[in-house]
Amino acid sequence: MSYNLLKGKKGIIFGALNPDSIAWKVAERAHEEGATLTLSNTAVAMRMGETQKLAEKLNTVAIAADATNVEELKNLFNKSMEALGGKIDFVLHSIGMSPNVRKGRHYSDLDYNYLDKTLDVSAISFHKVLQTARQLDAINEWGSVVALTYVAAQRTFYGYNDMADAKALLESIARSFGYIYGRERNVRINTVSQSPTVTTAGSGVKGFDRLLDFAERMSPLGNATADDCADYCITLFSDLTRRVTMQNLYNDGGFSNMGMSVRALQQYEKGLHEDCKCGPAEDKHLFD
Ligand SMILES: NC(=O)c1ccc[n+]([C@@H]2O[C@H](COP(=O)([O-])OP(=O)(O)OC[C@H]3O[C@@H](n4cnc5c(N)ncnc54)[C@H](O)[C@@H]3O)[C@@H](O)[C@H]2O)c1
Repeated sequence: MSYNLLKGKKGIIFGALNPDSIAWKVAERAHEEGATLTLSNTAVAMRMGETQKLAEKLNTVAIAADATNVEELKNLFNKSMEALGGKIDFVLHSIGMSPNVRKGRHYSDLDYNYLDKTLDVSAISFHKVLQTARQLDAINEWGSVVALTYVAAQRTFYGYNDMADAKALLESIARSFGYIYGRERNVRINTVSQSPTVTTAGSGVKGFDRLLDFAERMSPLGNATADDCADYCITLFSDLTRRVTMQNLYNDGGFSNMGMSVRALQQYEKGLHEDCKCGPAEDKHLFD
């Protein structure tokens, strides 16, 4: 159902790889709410993924940009303003990647070149997006920028690896830049901390199926889906949240404020080996 919350607004959505991507759902919802937008992803992702297909569906263009490359970001903002006929009102940063996670490196045995890459792609790219936008004066007054994050920035989660450090940095950038951009141009910057969600990036996290099951049992409202995340992002892009800025906002069914739930405790008592929907735990996981 559409409330026309984004009627007349122009946006850029990073990170829609395939229909599972959270950014995919956000782009569809933003379009439904009356926004016009451009999509962006890396050239490789555009070749391998389905970004172009979504662009056709939403009657728009997909513009390739590696979010770690400032020149490509400049080109993206300029081309987007050209395509949309004016400055941008909202941006979604939905980008994450860790070579250490991909290559199965343990957190106590990180490859530091990989770590540099993790931080650059998953966190510093957010600074690059914001700095580029500000230097080009590409975002309208009262614009809204959102990046997606995860609660592993605050608490330790088995298997999340160096992405936890990247998310902590990402959230810090939202606060630091939020002050500057807010004071100067009334642009707000927030992060949305999302429940575990089945996507290409999400499923790369070690023990992801168990994490999903655990979070579902712990959260009084259950895990937030990608569609829930899209709805929340729409409110943050809309004029209904004009003085919400520099916040890390949880969209997680209550998970982040839980200690222990009955449903999780019951499952724990039964023992994972006997009765876990996600199958028997592999012994080697127990020692990680
Ligand atoms: N899936 C989850 O469980 C979950 C939970 C909380 C937060 N998040 C966050 O949500 C965001 C989106 O992830 P997703 O789960 O939709 O997975 P996804 O794999 O669909 O999206 C990740 C996107 O990042 C893009 N990307 C990677 N490197 C890039 C670069 N250098 N420049 C530009 N784009 C690049 C990929 O091409 C892809 O489109 C990420 O920040 C992720 O950490 C995901």
